[in-house]
Amino acid sequence: MIRIENVSKSFATETHRIEVLSAVDLQVSAGERVAIVGASGAGKTTLMHILGGLEQPSSGLVLFRGENLFALHGHARDAFRNRSMGFVFQFHQLLPEFSALENVMMPALIGRWSRRKAEARAQALLTEVGLAARSTHRPGQLSGGEQQRVAIARALMMSPALLLADEPTGNLDSGTSGEIFHLLDRLHAAYGLTMIVVTHSAALAARLDRVISMADGRVVSSGQ
Ligand SMILES: Nc1ncnc2c1ncn2[C@@H]1O[C@H](COP(=O)(O)OP(=O)(O)OP(=O)(O)O)[C@@H](O)[C@H]1O
Ligand SMILES: [Mg+2]
Repeated sequence: MIRIENVSKSFATETHRIEVLSAVDLQVSAGERVAIVGASGAGKTTLMHILGGLEQPSSGLVLFRGENLFALHGHARDAFRNRSMGFVFQFHQLLPEFSALENVMMPALIGRWSRRKAEARAQALLTEVGLAARSTHRPGQLSGGEQQRVAIARALMMSPALLLADEPTGNLDSGTSGEIFHLLDRLHAAYGLTMIVVTHSAALAARLDRVISMADGRVVSSGQ
């Protein structure tokens, strides 16, 4: 599904360059659920951004189903990302002035679906994550766990092959986290979704198929 080869990333500051990822190789198969763990600053979020095509590596290759992600530019890469991948972040990044339903519809509206079709699918997804009755609520009127479920529904809107989640339960208590774990399990069982999940939660990592450990910008164990 996704393969990265010899990926490095450095950021230049005014005085020096810092290498945040060093020669990272990684392969994730279709349907696999992988946890990425490691200390704060290990480079997990940076790696997720590169996997998702949000940030360009300084060197190396990112192949998504054999396609070189960074050979696509501008709108072509945005469109590819919109239809192939779903993102969930620690802070859900929902748009505060829109309802839950409108937030979930957003990727489809960007993908130029008709409003009717987008609305029907968004409503079905909100039902699937247990929030059918909350579709008109704005994010500020929902609990943290509910907001995260809306973010998961939004991530699934375009039926992505790959779900990338960066600390999806990092901001939730253990009970609410448990609901999110259960939802991810159910989605995997229903759709065979490939998942890459950054987490500090040992409980979440243990539920996934494989754990990749990072330290200082390197993969120190790929769990294989
Ligand atoms: N745009 C940037 N410019 C400069 N340095 C950056 C930038 N983005 C990230 N870094 C640095 O890269 C390193 C890795 O950051 P990253 O966010 O990938 O870590 P992380 O493993 O996700 O940590 P956490 O568990 O705290 O989220 C950090 O030292 C960070 O300061
Ligand atoms: Mg991070």
